[in-house]
Formats: sequence, C-alpha cells, structure tokens
Amino acid sequence: MVEFTLPKNSKVTVGKSWPKPEGASKLRKFQIYRWDPDTGANPRVDTYWIDVDDCGPMVLDALIKIKNEIDPTLTFRRSCREGICGSCAMNIDGANTLACIFGLDEVDNETVKIYPLPHMPVVKDLVPDLTHIYAQHAATMPWLETKTARPEHEWRQSIEDRKKLDGLYECVMCASCSTACPSYWWNGDRYLGPAALLHAYRWIIDSRDEATAERLDFLEDPFRLYRCHTIMNCAKTCPKGLNPAKAIAEIKKMMVERVV
Ligand code: SF4
Ligand code: FES
Repeated sequence: MVEFTLPKNSKVTVGKSWPKPEGASKLRKFQIYRWDPDTGANPRVDTYWIDVDDCGPMVLDALIKIKNEIDPTLTFRRSCREGICGSCAMNIDGANTLACIFGLDEVDNETVKIYPLPHMPVVKDLVPDLTHIYAQHAATMPWLETKTARPEHEWRQSIEDRKKLDGLYECVMCASCSTACPSYWWNGDRYLGPAALLHAYRWIIDSRDEATAERLDFLEDPFRLYRCHTIMNCAKTCPKGLNPAKAIAEIKKMMVERVV
C-alpha cells in the first residue's frame, strides 16, 4: 500500500530546550537536529541559547561552545577549522556549507537552524554517513594514472596546463554539492553526483594523466554522468566557490567531441 506520510520513526519531534545562560550580553538561539541510534527514539530538534559575545565568530565555534559548556552529547565532525578538511559540512540556515568558515553573522535568520547534510543516512546528530559518496569518488580513480616510464624527477606540467586545474583542485570533498542536488537525491545509487564528477574531470583534464579514454569510458553511462540536469544547486551551495556543473558540462562536451 502506498504510504502518504513519513515512516513513524523518521518524524522529527520537538526536543529539549536548554536554559538561557545568565548574564549574557547578546543571546542567540540555536535549533539543532539530534538523533541517537542507540535510543531507538525519533529524531528531535533541541534548542540552545548562547552568548555570542562570548563565542568565536563561526557557526562551528558555536557548536563547539555548546558541546563544551552545555551538552557534551552533541555530535558533529570537524578537524581543521579552516575550510580544508571538508569534515564539518552540514545544513545551516537551509543551505549546505562548512560550519568552520560560515560566520554567525552570515546566518540570515535570528535563530540558527542546523541539520545534517540532506538525504543522507545519519550516523548520529549532525554526522552523515558518507561511505557511498567516498566509494563513488574512489571509482573515478582520483589519482594520476600514467603508462609511460616514470621520469627521473617530477612529472612536469606547463604553467598553462597547470592553470586548467584551478577551480578543481581546491575541492575538499565536503559533499555539500552532491547532497544539495535533486538528481543525486533521486538517483544517488547510480548517478555519481557533482562532487565525484568534479574530481573525475580534475584528472581527465590533467595534462600529465594518460588514462583519459579509460576515464571517459567509465563515465559513458546513462546514470553515472548524464543524470546531471544542470540544476546548478551544486555551484550555488559550494562553500569553496567551485562550479561542479561546469566541470560536468566539460566532460559531456568531451564525450561529444570524441564520437564525432
Ligand atoms: S565541489 Fe565544493 S561542495 Fe562539492 S565537494 Fe567540492 S568543495 Fe564540497
Ligand atoms: S573543520 Fe575542516 S573544513 Fe571545517
């Protein structure tokens, strides 16, 4: 029978409201998604208040403050705190981004709403399970593939060829783009998604790589590449300002050029 409502255990409930800190000069409200697989309970949204005058400027600073001073059970990923490791990606104020480089003053609404990356299985609280995305990334052979003998020193590249990697090499595999893509939500089992495809193109376009045909053969598939419908959510949301849709379009162009 067709089910018109969410399965019982996926309904998000109103969670705990933590007390406001005393003596705060600038209070801000945070509503944060919580889910603990060990309790068997439904996900919930907890409410916290913090004094932002007594907190670092980024959303990650606020999460760390909440974890250190209010609720040590709050779970999220972070490492570098400077937009390099890609581990703190989450949905903040309705958009996927990196919590460590997203300022509290960039959040449009007075209440800061924080959820895990959308349409992904959740491990706990704000931690999504990225196993499948990493496997898709690995399937694109994200390394230099060569057939000729290894040079005595480094593989050389002209300045012009190196420039072709700009806008690609900066990707930190945070998965904000893929999890913002409706096409990936619907076909993520077979469509590689913007993150993996941007990496695929980064190696296709690398002048030192010698596996271009093999890489294009792998992508010549109705789902892996062609499920991109240029919706552009990927470019809109990328916290590093990259444009995965453009990289995907370049791959499609190469596909056409090699068959004519
Ligand atoms: S393209 Fe941007 S949003 Fe996508 S994985 Fe790379 S850094 Fe993250
Ligand atoms: S903590 Fe590394 S990107 Fe945010």
